[in-house]
Amino acid sequence: MSPPRKVDSKEVGLVIGMILGQYFLDTEDLHYGYWPPDLPVSGANMAQAQANYSNFLISHIPAGTKTILDVGCGTGHLARKLLGLGYRVDCVSPSPLLTERARQKLGDACRIFECTYEEVETEKPYDLVLFSESWQYVKMEPSFQKTQTLLPEGGHLLICDFFKTDAKGKSALGGGHRLSKFYRLISSYPFAAVQDLDITPETAPNLALVDEVLTRAGIPIRDLIFYFLNQNYPRLSKLVQWQFQNKIDKLNFKYFSGQRNAENFAKFKSYRLLLYRKS
Ligand SMILES: C[S@@+](CC[C@H](N)C(=O)[O-])C[C@H]1O[C@@H](n2cnc3c(N)ncnc32)[C@H](O)[C@@H]1O
Repeated sequence: MSPPRKVDSKEVGLVIGMILGQYFLDTEDLHYGYWPPDLPVSGANMAQAQANYSNFLISHIPAGTKTILDVGCGTGHLARKLLGLGYRVDCVSPSPLLTERARQKLGDACRIFECTYEEVETEKPYDLVLFSESWQYVKMEPSFQKTQTLLPEGGHLLICDFFKTDAKGKSALGGGHRLSKFYRLISSYPFAAVQDLDITPETAPNLALVDEVLTRAGIPIRDLIFYFLNQNYPRLSKLVQWQFQNKIDKLNFKYFSGQRNAENFAKFKSYRLLLYRKS
């Protein structure tokens, strides 16, 4: 019998995101929303903002593209949209839990490579390799190499994702490759920059929503749990707090210090749409 598969905490986070999104926000997208100045920032408008994001991304698919590899397809929501627009789409999905949902959505219309992008093996070339908020999860060097083999000359790499800036200070916001490192690495591959758009101002409002949920619901729930433990199990509670103080401090800083907000996102992250042509 093979040992049970280890489940990555990021995968669990994405599946929780999917469940909460489906239940509370009526959305199956797992990416940020794109907020134009006239769209009020509220949970009720999240599905609209995410649809804006997908439309914005799709509007940058180069003319002449017929085949797309959607890397990190999440629930398959974007892939289904692309199929509806007449593109031929294959997907990459290393998460069995998300793949199940993508299969329900896409049926046999797409081939799904059930592995990481780095592990994809195929002879099939694609006109476009697309990363919709999935670039931050892949290893950059192997992914540039893989993209180089999957794209014919003139094919495109389209990435829409956030990166770390070089801003000084401690950030409560995780995720993203360093942008300066991305530019340095890609410069040694045969990819010519076609577009590089900074959409941080349009995506940062997502963090205003996160901040509101954490402040108004997260902190009171955290306090309630500690109150319950302190009142009912004072000795166990003291022991746990002593044993895990470092972890608790880290969680408090990350989620409950009020630092997870739009201003800090704009300072520590840069959300970009990057289009490159293989030359
Ligand atoms: C934030 S979700 C984005 C999902 C979808 N592209 C969207 O825009 O809604 C990140 C996706 O990247 C996938 N992913 C994580 N690590 C990956 C890897 N090494 N190779 C390919 N996909 C990966 C996850 O399974 C998930 O589908």
